[in-house]
Amino acid sequence: MKALSVALLLALLASVHKTERSFENQKEKNVSKQEALNESQLLTMQDTFSSQGEDLARRKKNEERGHQLYKMSNKILKHSKSKKDKEEAYQLLTKAADMGHLKAMEKLAAALLFGYHGPQNITAAVTLYETLAEKGSHRGQTALGFMFSYGIGMEYNQAKALVYYTFGSLGGNLISQMILGYRYWVGINVPRNCEAALTNYRKVAFFIADKLEKNEEMPVEKVRLMEKSENLSSNNDFLDWDVHQFYKFLAERGDTQIQKAFYYFLKAAKAGNTHGMAFLGKMFLEGSVAVTQSNASAFKYFTMAAEKGNAVGLWGLGLLYYQGKGVPVNYTEAFKYFHIAAEKGLADAQFQLGVMYHSGSGVRKDYKLAFKYFYLASQNGQPIAVYYLAQMYAAGTGVFRSCPNAVELYRNVCELGSWSEKFLTAYFAYQDGNIDSSLIQYALLAEMGYEVAQSNSAYILESEQVKILSNDQMYPLALLLWNRAAAQGNAFARVKTGDYHFYGYGTKRDYVTAAIHYSLAVDHHIAQAMFNLAYMYEHGLGIPKDIHLAKRWYDLAAQTSPDASIPVFLARMKLEVKRLFSEIQLFKFTSSWKMSKLDTMLQPHWDLFALVVIVILLVLLIRNR
Ligand SMILES: *[C@@H]1O[C@H](CO)[C@@H](O)[C@H](O)[C@H]1NC(C)=O
Ligand SMILES: *[C@@H]1O[C@H](CO)[C@@H](O)[C@H](O)[C@H]1NC(C)=O
Ligand SMILES: *[C@@H]1O[C@H](CO)[C@@H](O)[C@H](O)[C@H]1NC(C)=O
Ligand SMILES: *[C@@H]1O[C@H](CO)[C@@H](O)[C@H](O)[C@H]1NC(C)=O
Ligand SMILES: *[C@@H]1O[C@H](CO)[C@@H](O)[C@H](O)[C@H]1NC(C)=O
Ligand SMILES: *[C@@H]1O[C@H](CO)[C@@H](O)[C@H](O)[C@H]1NC(C)=O
Repeated sequence: MKALSVALLLALLASVHKTERSFENQKEKNVSKQEALNESQLLTMQDTFSSQGEDLARRKKNEERGHQLYKMSNKILKHSKSKKDKEEAYQLLTKAADMGHLKAMEKLAAALLFGYHGPQNITAAVTLYETLAEKGSHRGQTALGFMFSYGIGMEYNQAKALVYYTFGSLGGNLISQMILGYRYWVGINVPRNCEAALTNYRKVAFFIADKLEKNEEMPVEKVRLMEKSENLSSNNDFLDWDVHQFYKFLAERGDTQIQKAFYYFLKAAKAGNTHGMAFLGKMFLEGSVAVTQSNASAFKYFTMAAEKGNAVGLWGLGLLYYQGKGVPVNYTEAFKYFHIAAEKGLADAQFQLGVMYHSGSGVRKDYKLAFKYFYLASQNGQPIAVYYLAQMYAAGTGVFRSCPNAVELYRNVCELGSWSEKFLTAYFAYQDGNIDSSLIQYALLAEMGYEVAQSNSAYILESEQVKILSNDQMYPLALLLWNRAAAQGNAFARVKTGDYHFYGYGTKRDYVTAAIHYSLAVDHHIAQAMFNLAYMYEHGLGIPKDIHLAKRWYDLAAQTSPDASIPVFLARMKLEVKRLFSEIQLFKFTSSWKMSKLDTMLQPHWDLFALVVIVILLVLLIRNR
């Protein structure tokens, strides 16, 4: 650990030194330029200068051309959905990247790594990212950190990963900052340090909260792969449809959807629907491609809705008075409307009350009340309220300062970042059979601390369909990820971690550790964990043999899940038969050697034998009924 921090420090020093040196270089250049100008009679000097100038001009022209190509490809990618256009855009991007355009290189590298527009090519991505990192691109540094961390296209090396993440984070990369926040929070390759986690998460959360306030971010549904495939028939189709619609909505954000919504609300409002009126008010207030912003129309529709007691309408009026849009600023009026809407349970209004108490606008500054309203709003799912709560916990205003609480809340805000759109692209890649592409996307999110992504990555890894990692890498990585998901409270992941230790997947077989994980999972009422624990008690694996406890856990497993009742029935029968046998075996000492011979003969087929006995018993039972 010490060696690592020394290495980090050295690396940091080196980077500082480098920037200093490049600064000096520039100064030298400026001076030599001056000299060259002064001593223009010296032909040699003149020569070098003019050739430098030509070089500069050519480079500049190249850069401009690269920039144009990049812009063109971006435009196509944004507006066109046909495959042919996309290919063309991709070619333009490649050309721009070849010309050394930094953003084009970053975009191309991401496309190659994640497999966005064409086939994945990790080797090519690594080459590009290495060039980028050398040029000081924080995206390049972050990507290299990510690849070192998983051993994708690189050797598995956590120390190097940490160094690159640190560079990326210093360069202002939000993903690196989030990764470092998570690492400090749970103590991955660094000592646990709440304050360091707080610092990193706060930077990211600040950015996200700002975007949320401007309505630029949109939360994304996170599909859990494991549950889906276990839930084979139950309304899967509906879920697929739902996500698909949502994806389309995202893809077409700001296009036809808003137009449709506008006419829908207009129709509803005309029919006297208060929700329709309130949302029309909102649309006029925000303005979009479909509706031009209008304070007067917003006021009109909000008033109509508010008169009928609609909470959104009341909130809207409050907002107009608060911001002085179309009406003079009047905090008294704003407070009145927010208060009525908040009483009706509207999270946005509760949030606004919190803001008023927090800043002391129109009311006496009161952090306790501000805290109360932010808390209420956050409970009702207002994400910016969560951010304010985190700020209050971090600073200790209105509440006792608590670093862990602040970090947990900041994390919630950070997880709303636009990168969570990868949950959708990863899911669709998985559905289309692009397993590697799906894994890489989930793996990045897992690195950033998303529990669902950790479970999904582990799930994909253990399916053994991944080609970008060698077989001996997969199980240790899957175990690592299950373990992280388990630590975040996923009980299924906890059972998985137990299984890996039980069977020795990706680690040494270790019954003691397996038993510990199962015991932790039974607290969450997982039948599978109870069953496994019972089995371990029955056989004395990792824990002292205890037939009574075994029976109890078998019974609890059966009670917890109806699915478990058949295996439990079989296991209990086996237990009974075995007890019978152990009683019979007592006779072994007295006379029959044949019996002991029978026992050794049966030993390898013990389960089979027990099953046969059970079946016979069952048949007898049914016959005698
Ligand atoms: C060198 O000159 C450029 C403009 O020619 C200027 O932007 C830059 O700040 C100068 N650098 C130093 C170190 O003086
Ligand atoms: C260049 O000439 C200017 C006056 O034209 C003078 O002030 C400056 O010191 C000269 N620089 C060098 C490096 O000789
Ligand atoms: C990946 O890119 C490298 C060079 O960038 C190329 O040599 C290699 O053929 C590519 N691999 C695939 C599978 O396209
Ligand atoms: C299966 O689907 C049902 C609803 O259809 C849901 O309540 C249940 O939690 C799902 N089970 C799992 C393991 O996802
Ligand atoms: C609405 O009010 C705001 C704040 O006074 C103002 O900046 C904006 O221009 C107004 N919008 C229109 C369309 O007048
Ligand atoms: C705000 O509105 C209230 C009631 O409508 C009024 O009494 C008060 O004078 C207004 N305040 C300002 C600053 O206009």
